Amino acid sequence: MKHLFFGCFKPKKKSSKQCNDQVSKQHSSKRISLSDLSGPDSPISFNDLSNSLVGSNLHVFTLAELKKITSKFSSSNYLGEGGFGTVYKGFIDDQLSPGLEAQAVAVKNLDLEGTQGHKEWLAEIIFLGQLKHPHLVKLIGCCCEGKHRLLVYEYMARGNLDKLLFRNYCATLPWSTRLQIAIGAAKGLAFLHEDQKPIIYRDFKASNILLDSDYTVKLSDFGLAKDGPQGDKTHITTRVMGTQGYAAPEYIMTGHLTTMSDVYSFGVVLLELLTGRRSVDKTRPHREQDLVKWARPQLKDSHKLDRIMDPRLEGQYSAEGAKKAALVAYQCLSRHSKCRPTMKTVVEALEPLQYLNDIPIGPFVYVVPSEVGKENNKEVEKKGCDQNQKGHTKKGHRHRQKLRVERSRAVYSDTALYKISKDMV
Ligand SMILES: Nc1ncnc2c1ncn2[C@@H]1O[C@H](COP(=O)(O)OP(=O)(O)OP(=O)(O)O)[C@@H](O)[C@H]1O
Ligand SMILES: [Mg+2]
Repeated sequence: MKHLFFGCFKPKKKSSKQCNDQVSKQHSSKRISLSDLSGPDSPISFNDLSNSLVGSNLHVFTLAELKKITSKFSSSNYLGEGGFGTVYKGFIDDQLSPGLEAQAVAVKNLDLEGTQGHKEWLAEIIFLGQLKHPHLVKLIGCCCEGKHRLLVYEYMARGNLDKLLFRNYCATLPWSTRLQIAIGAAKGLAFLHEDQKPIIYRDFKASNILLDSDYTVKLSDFGLAKDGPQGDKTHITTRVMGTQGYAAPEYIMTGHLTTMSDVYSFGVVLLELLTGRRSVDKTRPHREQDLVKWARPQLKDSHKLDRIMDPRLEGQYSAEGAKKAALVAYQCLSRHSKCRPTMKTVVEALEPLQYLNDIPIGPFVYVVPSEVGKENNKEVEKKGCDQNQKGHTKKGHRHRQKLRVERSRAVYSDTALYKISKDMV
């Protein structure tokens, strides 16, 4: 395994001086753009691409190494499949390469018959090879052998938000976790938008939001990402790509892409978190199939909001927090892109909602034992007690007693709180 980069692409012809400029640009935190490199099928230019991404710390794996760490892409390691190809779990031991620590990874293998290809693979490397942020998934390395294109990421233990929100039939995500997810994802997008050269993510949706063991959110999939407009330009024009139900209406109509298109998609995910419904759900009655159309008019009225909140929350959320989050979603989903807030404003609006404590204490809170967050346990218990002390009525007394019984039995994790129904305990 090599460290750093090979080139499967030929950068646009540059003099050696320009090449040096490129490297120093990278050092002065200026990113190399996709457009700085030429198109597919160009001969390999190891040095140029290595120079372009110097410092990115990406590892170049051989196909044989990736087969080894995934047990030959064994079905028992299968994590899922998307437009790029199939994803497998793997484990890198400390023998594989001196510079690489032992860790679990996710290996994405390009489907050679699929709709995506070399361009998306390259985009992922160019963006994630250079961007580092707590809310972006870490790209560890890649592989380019013959037609094979693979990407190796840090492993995200809880998979994606789509699965947790819509396909988790025995437990529901509590309000505090939903808020934590919304804030983390908003911070990831804000980071991309606030870059010196803003980046438009273009494929913001629940399945691209990954969660690690303590529910820290990381955005994945930069295959469709684009550098935003530069200078006087207000937008870039692209072929309309993305996912139905998440793409902004003006982008679908005109192909004009701005950071505000991502803000719209964020509004859709926020709405999914509030309602527990998918952005498009053909199994629902006709007028409820399009989530935005159905829910947006109800977001500004707190009485109507109660009716559209996820019933699986069973009312266990901060009414004030839900009202404010709904207002943020309403603004993000404005049909006029200029009326939408920036992601920075969204983060500022959502962050304080974590500290609201008007969450009713429910009939049963079972705390799933978790390996993670043990150090936080005392903190959590303390927070819980503080909350209990604040003005909860007799009605909640019985429930609190039960809660305390459960607490005395379990190992607690702040982020692994799950409500489950009586008959499941
Ligand atoms: N780093 C990772 N750690 C753990 N699981 C992952 C990781 N990356 C992807 N996965 C899982 O692999 C599966 C496929 O992901 P992928 O991103 O290829 O497809 P998708 O997001 O479902 O669809 P799309 O192609 O539209 O993005 C998903 O279930 C995802 O949760
Ligand atoms: Mg994805």
